[in-house]
Amino acid sequence: MNIAIFASGAGSNAEVIIHTLPQLIDEMNVHIALVVTNNANAGVVGMAQNNKIPTEIISLKTKTAAEISECYLVLLKKYAIDFIVLAGYLKKIPTPVIQAYPQKIMNIHPALLPAYGGPGMYGMRVHEAIVAAGEVQSGITIHYVDEVYDHGKIIFQATCQLEKEETGASLAKKVQALEYKYYSKIIADTLVSQIPVK
Ligand code: GRF
Repeated sequence: MNIAIFASGAGSNAEVIIHTLPQLIDEMNVHIALVVTNNANAGVVGMAQNNKIPTEIISLKTKTAAEISECYLVLLKKYAIDFIVLAGYLKKIPTPVIQAYPQKIMNIHPALLPAYGGPGMYGMRVHEAIVAAGEVQSGITIHYVDEVYDHGKIIFQATCQLEKEETGASLAKKVQALEYKYYSKIIADTLVSQIPVK
């Protein structure tokens, strides 16, 4: 199975997946075949190169919707990608790509969806909104990707508690720890559950 990881930022989740996913699955050959980013300056680019994962930087500016879809589909075909993992990827996945990969695109969101999701809800904005609202609990949501931001079927959630003195930054650390702990494992479980029965 060839996996592509899409990321727009530091790529710390992508790095954890690269280091842990192959060992979590012994029933099959899992190969992290590609890292895709829309941001040439993102930390994920250097991280992928250090880990010797082929990297494709796609520029979506000035392209039509049809050209954008084609751009993704050509890349996914070139690397024979079977499954896509979003790890902090900030661009919307076009409908033709979602249709070509039914239940084969996963995302992680740093809050308990359906709350605190949707367009513009990413990174520190999410954590600060949760602290400002006086929530006592947050966490992570791992879900399939559909045409609506942060909306696809939820696969897994894990929670953490907020303290009285919680800040966006301190909450981000707690949530990040949950991401590193669970994302690879849930990806592995999902891949295993999708192996066709012979
Ligand atoms: C993570 O918090 C993830 O939940 C969200 O984007 C962030 C990516 O961080 N979707 P990193 O690039 O993996 O460090």
